[in-house]
Amino acid sequence: MYRYIIKGGTKLQGEIDVSGSKNASLPILAATIISGKTTKLYNVPDIQDVKTTIKILEGLGCKIKKDKNKLIINSKYMKNTMIPEDLMRKLRSSVIIAGAIIARFKQVKFSYPGGCDIGARPIDLHLKNFKKMGIKIDENTSYIECKCDKIESQTIALDFPSVGATENLILASILGKHEMIINNAAMEPEIVDLASFLNRMGAKIYGAGTNTIRVKGVETLKDVSYKIMPDRIEAGTFLIATAMTGGTIKLNKVIPEHISPLLHKLSECGCKIIEDKNTIYLSTNGRLNGAEIKTMPYPGFPTDLQPLFSTMLTICKGTSIVTENIFENRYKFMQEIKRMGGKATIEGKTLIIKGVKKLHGANVESTDLRGGASLVLAGISAKGITKVSKVDYILRGYENFDVKLNQLGANIVKEEGD
Ligand code: UD1
Repeated sequence: MYRYIIKGGTKLQGEIDVSGSKNASLPILAATIISGKTTKLYNVPDIQDVKTTIKILEGLGCKIKKDKNKLIINSKYMKNTMIPEDLMRKLRSSVIIAGAIIARFKQVKFSYPGGCDIGARPIDLHLKNFKKMGIKIDENTSYIECKCDKIESQTIALDFPSVGATENLILASILGKHEMIINNAAMEPEIVDLASFLNRMGAKIYGAGTNTIRVKGVETLKDVSYKIMPDRIEAGTFLIATAMTGGTIKLNKVIPEHISPLLHKLSECGCKIIEDKNTIYLSTNGRLNGAEIKTMPYPGFPTDLQPLFSTMLTICKGTSIVTENIFENRYKFMQEIKRMGGKATIEGKTLIIKGVKKLHGANVESTDLRGGASLVLAGISAKGITKVSKVDYILRGYENFDVKLNQLGANIVKEEGD
C-alpha cells in the first residue's frame, strides 16, 4: 500500500492533458474477446484496473502487448471460459467480461464481482436479463454458470438504467441471428464509446446514447484500431481541484459536453469557465458559493464526481445540500473530511454541508477510489500537512495522479506505507 504526504496551501495553476477513460477502457477491453481477432487500442490509461483486466484476459488465453497507452490484444487462441475468483473480486467491471465470453463461446463461469464498497452493488439486472435472452443460469455453487445454445430475440426493459447491465447485454448480443432491444438503457458516453468500438469491428448497434438500444446479431467481426475517449471523471476531478485552491487551469483533450452538469454547477459556485472544442479553461475569483446537487444517471450530475464536489462544498460559502441517488453508501469519505475540519451531517440520502473557510491537514484514510481522490483534493487546499493512506484505491482509476497534480503546483510525495 502507498500513501501520499501532501503539503497544503498551494494554488493549482497550469495546463494538463486528460487521460483515456477508465470506464470506457474496461468494457472495450472485454469486447476484444468477442472478435477472436487482433485489436489495437490507443489512449488506454495506465491504471491498476486496466492492469487487472489485462491479467484476466491473459488468464483466459488472450495475448496482449502493452506499450505505454497502446495495447495490442489478440484473442484468437482464447479457449478458457472461466474467470478466476481472486481477479473477479478485485474489479466490479469484471462482470461484463462474462457477457463478452458468452457472446463468443455461449458459456461462462464466474463469481460475484468485487470493486469499491460504495453500496450493495448487486448484479440482478445483469442475470435477470441474461435469462430473458435465453441464457440458462446456475447459481447453486459459489460460481455462476451461464450456458445457451443461441441468443434469442427479445425486448428487454431495464428496471434501472444500469451502466454495467447495459454494457453486459450489448456485449452478450453481438454475435448471432437475433435482434435485441434494450429499453431504459443507460445513456452514458462510455456506452457510446463501447458501441462505436464494436460497430467499427462490424457489430450492428443502433441508438447508443439514447435510452433505447437495438443490437442486431452479426456472424463475424474484424481486426480494428480504436482510440479510447477522454476520462470525464478525471477531467472533473482536476477542475474541482483547481476551483478548490482558487487557481486557474487549461484542461486539454477533454469533451466539455460530457461534463456539462459539473460545468454548470462550478459556474453557479462562481468559477469562470470557457469551453473551446476539446479544451476547458477554469479560473476563480474569491471564495466560492455553496450549491445544491443531486446525482442522476447521465445526463444528470455523475455520482462519481459527488465525493469530489461535496469536498469542495465544505469550503464554500453557506449551506450546501447533496443528494446521492445512485449508490447508498457513498458518503464514507466525509468522516475523513470531518477530521480535517469539514462540517457536514448525513440524513439518509442527503448530505448537509456547512461551509468553513479552510480545512486543516490531518491523517486520513482512503475509503474508495473517488473518496480517496477527494481527500487528496482536500489536502492540497488545506492548511498544513495531510497524510492520505490506502492510496492504492486511487491508483485503481487515476493515471499519474500525484505527478499530474504536482505539475499544476501541488506538493505531493508518494511513499510506501500503509
Ligand atoms: C458504473 C461505473 C461507476 C459509476 C456507475 C454509475 C464502470 C466500471 N463503473 O458502475 O464508476 O459510478 O456506473 O454511473 O463503468 N444495480 C442493481 N442491480 C444491478 C446493477 C446495478 O441494483 O444488476 C444498481 C447499483 O447497485 C447502483 C445502480 O444500479 O445502485 C447503478 O449501478 P450501475 O449503473 O450498474 O453502475 P456500475 O456499472 O457498477
